[in-house]
Amino acid sequence: MDREKFSSGLAVFFATLGSAVGLGNIWKFPYLTGQYGGGAFLLVYLACIVCVGLPVMYSEFVIGRRTRLNAVGALKKLAPGTPWKHIGTMGVAASYLIMFFYSCVAGWVYYYLFKAVRGDFAAVTMADAKAQFGAVVVSPVTPVLWQFVVLAVVAAILIMGVKNGIERITKTLMPLLFLLILACDLRALTLPGAADGVRFLFAADFGKLSAAAVLTALGLAFFKLSLGMGCMITYGSYFTDDNNLFGTGLKVALSDTLVSLLAGLAIFPTVFAFGLEPGAGPGLLFMTIPLVFSQMPFGGLLLVAFFFLAAIAATTAMLSLVEVPVAYLAEERGIRRPVAVLINAALIFAVGILAALSADKAGPLGGITLMGRGFFDWFDYLSSNILLPLGGLLMVIFMSYVLPRRDIARELTNDGALAAGRLVAFYFFAIRYITPALLIVIFLNSVGVIKL
Ligand code: TRP
Repeated sequence: MDREKFSSGLAVFFATLGSAVGLGNIWKFPYLTGQYGGGAFLLVYLACIVCVGLPVMYSEFVIGRRTRLNAVGALKKLAPGTPWKHIGTMGVAASYLIMFFYSCVAGWVYYYLFKAVRGDFAAVTMADAKAQFGAVVVSPVTPVLWQFVVLAVVAAILIMGVKNGIERITKTLMPLLFLLILACDLRALTLPGAADGVRFLFAADFGKLSAAAVLTALGLAFFKLSLGMGCMITYGSYFTDDNNLFGTGLKVALSDTLVSLLAGLAIFPTVFAFGLEPGAGPGLLFMTIPLVFSQMPFGGLLLVAFFFLAAIAATTAMLSLVEVPVAYLAEERGIRRPVAVLINAALIFAVGILAALSADKAGPLGGITLMGRGFFDWFDYLSSNILLPLGGLLMVIFMSYVLPRRDIARELTNDGALAAGRLVAFYFFAIRYITPALLIVIFLNSVGVIKL
């Protein structure tokens, strides 16, 4: 059977950007930036993207396109009979952990879109906004129901395949997402008092930077660019032969960061204009945005626009997450693609319920904790802060010491068609020294072996 591929460079770009842009930009980035003090956190985050994110992303692209296989199959083919394939196995495991809680938050977003359309937020007060979100996270039914809707939508798209599903949907929806976020920014930035929000996002106060902040920024960089678990191996395996990998990675990282900044610029000015708390935690998006938007002219419409763009972001990112185990099951286990999609959706739903019911301490399963974290928090912490950076570290070690340099250089330059000697040299330097050194230091610090 012919393996599918994206049909053009533009399709490669939008699909990959669709994977990168997600709840990370709209839900995680704003609340983490708020919690860790704004501008300084942003700078560390940008450094992580350049020094760690891009090198890992290029590594994944090379592994994927060179083999044209799923995450496990790709490593098996490059290093037959060695344990390196477990980078892929670990990746599949990490993808499940992420999907368990990601599908839950995506469900909240879908539900909030529905509520915005229905007009639930007309003239809400702070207390109402809190009560409405509080009701969602403690409900045993609502979040589970919407998580199901998300998974049904994602499964339907994936069943259509790589070209008819992923490519077609991301090419239509990503440009729309940009337009919608620009509309929200326009409104936010023209509010009286918006300047304080802009200052908060860009003014760097290094006094607030802790080791925990650095680890969080690193984890966020991996999460944002969909790295460390084979997502970019899987998508890379669908790239066109003549795609410029350096160019695609750079464009995706830049555009994704732009979306994060635009989301921050929609959220923080509004937060400050209404005298609210920027560090409000994971609920920032679901309490502050409805509260604030409902109080301004055309707010009802903007609210629909905002949650619609968030729903697009969540959906296209989910596509890439679920594609990892789908490609794995289809290619390594010989299961037909539609069946592989359904098996995965069912599994994610079944375990994802644990996340949906434990997202809040007051939720039905919120009382079950281990070392202070419930299911939801464990899924998030283990994947973002441990498995993704660990996967990334193993990948750059693999690229530095196992895969022949000549093969890597060939893949990066499309068999010599691209004159990119300097970039290739820089890439080799980064994956051998910079990326692993940073990852190891941050890791040792986070497990307490050294103290930054
Ligand atoms: N990057 C997406 C976001 O920011 C989430 C995502 C998609 C992801 N695929 C991934 C995160 C792979 C980690 C690994 O929301």
